[in-house]
Amino acid sequence: MNITQRPRRNRRNAIIRNMVAETRLNSDMFIYPYFVTHGNGVVNPIGAMPGVNHFSIDTLLTDAEKGLKAGINKLLLFGVGEEKSEDGHTAHGESSIVPAAVKALKNAFGSDVYVITDVCVCAYTTHGHCGILHHGEVKNDSSVELLTRMALAHAQAGADMVAPSDMMDGRVGAIRQTLDSNGFEHTALMSYAVKFASAYYGPFREAADSSPQQGDRKAYQMDPRNGNEAIREALLDVQEGADIIMVKPALAYLDIIRRVKDEVNVPVACYNVSGEYSMVKNAAAAGLIDEPRIVMENMTAFARAGADIIITYHARDIVEKGWL
Ligand code: PBG
Ligand code: ZN
Repeated sequence: MNITQRPRRNRRNAIIRNMVAETRLNSDMFIYPYFVTHGNGVVNPIGAMPGVNHFSIDTLLTDAEKGLKAGINKLLLFGVGEEKSEDGHTAHGESSIVPAAVKALKNAFGSDVYVITDVCVCAYTTHGHCGILHHGEVKNDSSVELLTRMALAHAQAGADMVAPSDMMDGRVGAIRQTLDSNGFEHTALMSYAVKFASAYYGPFREAADSSPQQGDRKAYQMDPRNGNEAIREALLDVQEGADIIMVKPALAYLDIIRRVKDEVNVPVACYNVSGEYSMVKNAAAAGLIDEPRIVMENMTAFARAGADIIITYHARDIVEKGWL
């Protein structure tokens, strides 16, 4: 046999495989999501998302401290169980749960923790849409105004970064302007710029109690058939002042992560969403797959596709169980 090219030489043992590895993951890449609710001593398992809980502020602090010790220092907060209204005003109210959680985290851990807040009103509206409903339609500009108030309330509470997930037009620019004109020019903004109307959000909507009561989100979230439009959305949000661009979901959209990464000059995040997480957890519980290997294969795929940042419910397992 006369074979000149033998790619197997670079795979011969773990040392050389590690040396030539083209994709490297580390704990700095991960953001861990939390669902925060009112009350005391609450640790409520979310049925659809094994291993994920609703926390009240006190239990959130205890859990976050454990995570910090393991190296998870970037948290993404979702508010749950707030009083709902037609106009979603509790999203920025005085007694809102997310600003209170931000303050508590910052009081307890200061600059050791980086607090990111989800900015969207679907968990705060009776109809469950991500904006203001008017004759059955989500009105763009009045929704944007509401979202700017919510983002400002989070920034005032001390959030390091706000992350609008609503998919209204022009909200990144409007939020950026509101933050700046109120003295929060240092508060960062991660845009859910490319968010598809996806069935993979199912378990999350149970967790956040944020399902639309009527209709769906297809008139504001993106059509899964579109890739060029993803680039359009991403470039618009960079122009409007986004510091980080997110693609969501992740697994079924690896091509989009790659295309966005090639087009923008800001960091790209991907959101490994609830449905992706629950499928893995349930398949693992049924003994069908090897959970650590499947999880890390998925994480590697995100990074290889171009994600600089990974938002995932697996983050705690990954660092605490030494899967990296
Ligand atoms: C709310 C929001 C959703 C997710 C993050 N923010 C759900 C939705 O748009 O219906 C999904 C997160 C997940 O599935 O893990 N706008
Ligand atoms: Zn929403």
